[in-house]
Amino acid sequence: MRLAKYLAHAGVASRRKAEELIVNGQVRVNDKLVTTPAFEVDPMSDYIEVDKTPITPETKQYILLYKPAGYLSTVTDPFDRPTVMDLISDNRQRLYPVGRLDFDTEGLLLLTNDGDFTNQMIHPRHMVSKRYQAIVKGKVRPSQLKRLETGIELDDGWTAPARAKIIMSSANETTVEIEIHEGRKHQVKRMFQAIGHPVLHLVRTGFGSLNLDNLRIGQYRYLTQDEVEQLLALATEPSKNDDGGDNS
Ligand code: URA
Repeated sequence: MRLAKYLAHAGVASRRKAEELIVNGQVRVNDKLVTTPAFEVDPMSDYIEVDKTPITPETKQYILLYKPAGYLSTVTDPFDRPTVMDLISDNRQRLYPVGRLDFDTEGLLLLTNDGDFTNQMIHPRHMVSKRYQAIVKGKVRPSQLKRLETGIELDDGWTAPARAKIIMSSANETTVEIEIHEGRKHQVKRMFQAIGHPVLHLVRTGFGSLNLDNLRIGQYRYLTQDEVEQLLALATEPSKNDDGGDNS
């Protein structure tokens, strides 16, 4: 791997800044000064230092964040709006969100630097279940819930079967718990729109085996190895989540 790329992957700096560090003579490989960003290193065996500090290869990390409304699920924003990365204070690794929640949606969002894990979690055929609590406009009738459960036609095709349950209902609003296995853009909002009950407030409460538990809004915690393995097991059991729906 090229030295500049290695430093960027290790979370030392962006690729461009890493090149600057190298050209400026701040980087040593096996105790020798290297000033060529394209210098090839072996991450397994070479000893690399920046300003005399040894650089260790990036470790895989997984964060569960209780995303507040008003944050983008992206790493950067060209318009400088708040992103979920602004909420992660103690991490220098290059993390990014696993899938997305809308700007105004709250709830459980995973972040990681593990590309394979991300692919497993968002692969359409291995979609792990996602649970949401939606407050929607008006009184939802059981027959409408059935439509959500069996599948509903959206402009990008039929949704796969879902689970839905009314938690609370008044004349003006209904709180519904809904579980889906797909991850199309604005999916929950579009499903409720399609049955004539626009979403007023949306919270993702669960992702596979994970829940928000005792986290407060804006807080995050690191997943344990067991939790990561449980999620991967869910994603690699196609028969469990593969309901034959059109979610490819
Ligand atoms: N469905 C939506 O409509 N929005 C989200 O943020 C997540 C799921």
